[in-house]
Amino acid sequence: MIKFELNGKEVSVDADPDTPLLWAIRDEVGLTGTKFGCGIGACGACTVHIDGTATRSCITYLSDVEGGKVTTIEGLDEDGNHPVQEAWRDLRVPQCGYCQSGQIMQAASFLKDTPNPSDEDIDAVMTGNLCRCMTYSRIRQAVRNAATAMGASDNG
Ligand code: FES
Ligand code: FES
Repeated sequence: MIKFELNGKEVSVDADPDTPLLWAIRDEVGLTGTKFGCGIGACGACTVHIDGTATRSCITYLSDVEGGKVTTIEGLDEDGNHPVQEAWRDLRVPQCGYCQSGQIMQAASFLKDTPNPSDEDIDAVMTGNLCRCMTYSRIRQAVRNAATAMGASDNG
């Protein structure tokens, strides 16, 4: 039994400690917002936050999060109104949507640590999150807009 905090609530998962966190979240806990893309850490679809840092859950063992804090897209903001989510909605970023929870989780973690990113900063960090629908230009603009919104809220 592996215990950890998931979206602010204590959970216990009865699975092999070598189970990828992605499958524990989806199949054992039943939260399906986190997606499977490649399974080898190469596409970003499965991105969650572990102790606040964007992490590929497909290549993270369940045992690695014992006692830690995991946040998925379902827990980023209880009302779905994180500034990154608002920016995504305003620009209608998604096309098919499959990659987008990973994109949003990556961007939210990035902006927490880098409040005033340049376009180069944005491209460098988001390059590991692939989008088959090629929504990249909207993603970049949404990250910029979210950075501005988050800076405005920090300044009161
Ligand atoms: S499914 Fe994890 S990085 Fe692609
Ligand atoms: S919106 Fe379709 S894969 Fe990104």
